[in-house]
Amino acid sequence: MSAYETILIERRGRVGVITLNRPHALNALNSTLMREVVAAATDFDRDRGIGAIVVTGSEKAFAAGADIKEMASQGYADVLLADWFADWDRFAALRTPTVAAVAGYALGGGCEVAMMCDLLLAAENAKFGQPEITLGTIPGIGGSQRLTRAVGKSKAMDLILTGRMMGVEEAERAGLVARVVPTERLLEEALEVADKIASMSLPAVYAAKEAVAEAFESTLSDGVRFERRTFHATFALADRAEGMAAFTEKRKPNFTHS
Ligand code: CAA
Repeated sequence: MSAYETILIERRGRVGVITLNRPHALNALNSTLMREVVAAATDFDRDRGIGAIVVTGSEKAFAAGADIKEMASQGYADVLLADWFADWDRFAALRTPTVAAVAGYALGGGCEVAMMCDLLLAAENAKFGQPEITLGTIPGIGGSQRLTRAVGKSKAMDLILTGRMMGVEEAERAGLVARVVPTERLLEEALEVADKIASMSLPAVYAAKEAVAEAFESTLSDGVRFERRTFHATFALADRAEGMAAFTEKRKPNFTHS
């Protein structure tokens, strides 16, 4: 795969790993980094040999936000016409499950990209926040929506209106984080989760991800109907037949992703 300037990419079996890599700027998300993450993630998404994607940063910072130095000189017409940050929607729309492995600062855009991932693993040293208000602006990569859905209105208001940071205990209690792990084991644990997901039937995984995502976009009755139809559709899969046969025959399933 081609070399990138602001990220590192790696394949670990059926797992694609994207490491944010602007250490001098605490992985601040500039335009190049956004373009590169979206490009790398899209390549992994199109690759049937990849069943999960891990996104991580350094031990000090997952990402300390959108790049303030890049934004500072922009005017309203600039950001409107270029539709700043809209490219991240393509990351949120990936079909392959994404696992955020967060250590250190996940602030502003960093918190927002972590929340765009399907599940969030946090190291004990992780700190989350939406400090945009301290810069005279507001979240711009979905934070006001995804944080509110994840932790509820009161805590989202607390974080977004004061700009304070939240540690992992609070983040886990609030439902933002799926698991907290020792800092030195973060990548290992994230790869284990991703490997597990990638060992399942890919079409079933797509269906499960789409069904959960539907909970954020629809009413309960529409979502339940969507789930049921999608559940019915899995009965067309060879992997569904194999999974149930393997259970009955007391053996491991051999999924062919078909
Ligand atoms: N953008 C650009 N550069 C950043 C940055 C950011 N978001 N965050 C850190 N950096 C740079 C610093 O400017 C510094 O560079 P120099 O050495 O050239 O001065 C380098 O990274 C190291 O940072 P610090 O010296 O500040 O490190 P620290 O350990 O003292 O503090 C910190 C860490 C508390 C995270 C602090 O860097 C900080 O507050 N960063 C900004 C956090 C923030 O406000 N994020 C929101 C951005 S706006 C946004 O994200 C909008 C949106 O929703 C789309």
